Amino acid sequence: MEHNRNRTALVVLAHHRSDSLTAHTARRTVAQLEAAGYTVDLLDLHAEGFDPRMTVADQPDWGNRDKLYSAEAREHMRRLLAADLVVAVFPVYWMSLPAVLKGWIDRVWNYGFAYGRSKPRLAGKRILWLGLAGATGSDDIIEPMRKILEDQLNTGIAYYCGFEHATVGLLPDAEERPQTIGAGGELVIGDAVAGAERAAHYTEFDRRAAEFVAEFVAGSAAEAAQKSA
Ligand SMILES: Cc1cc2nc3c(=O)[nH]c(=O)nc-3n(C[C@H](O)[C@H](O)[C@H](O)COP(=O)(O)O)c2cc1C
Repeated sequence: MEHNRNRTALVVLAHHRSDSLTAHTARRTVAQLEAAGYTVDLLDLHAEGFDPRMTVADQPDWGNRDKLYSAEAREHMRRLLAADLVVAVFPVYWMSLPAVLKGWIDRVWNYGFAYGRSKPRLAGKRILWLGLAGATGSDDIIEPMRKILEDQLNTGIAYYCGFEHATVGLLPDAEERPQTIGAGGELVIGDAVAGAERAAHYTEFDRRAAEFVAEFVAGSAAEAAQKSA
């Protein structure tokens, strides 16, 4: 779309398998954003060999918010700064982020860059956290999971770093074998879906993911139009 020209989106993929549902969802998200007129930078953390472990070079120095971080972290900061929108696509691990994405935030969304300034450099940006969850959509765990993710990712990270808008798009049913929590709190794994049911399962999954992205893009366009009015 014309009004999104010159706008850039950073899609961050946090998965170790390129044939995963998470990677598939990230690729579809890239195509959807490009169709909406965005220039997309796909950051595949595993494929690019990002090391999520904190280092001395990237540890914050609370006495120096202008610390020069590692070249690798600075390159990621540049890519983050260049983006109007960020979409992080990841599997939900323990109601949280997988280590590679958590470490990317730890090392890159650093003191003096992402937070710790009166005018945060990430101010005005928007983020969609697209999290794939193994639990089935009807499981009672889904609502608490959404709440935990919203508190952690929106309030604890994005708003703290000056993002203007943050949304969690939680995508349950990311497994072919339905996962539910039993009466004793244990994991119960059901039978795999197959045939037409399987095809319908993934069509519906893709539709829900695309809906989150479309709503996010529409909100961003409305915001941009309001600013330029
Ligand atoms: C270490 C680990 C922790 C997980 N924690 C959760 C969880 O807290 N809630 C949930 O619904 N699914 C959980 N899962 C299931 C994953 O979310 C699910 O397997 C993934 O989203 C499927 O997408 P993929 O095929 O792209 O990996 C976990 C999986 C692993 C390996």
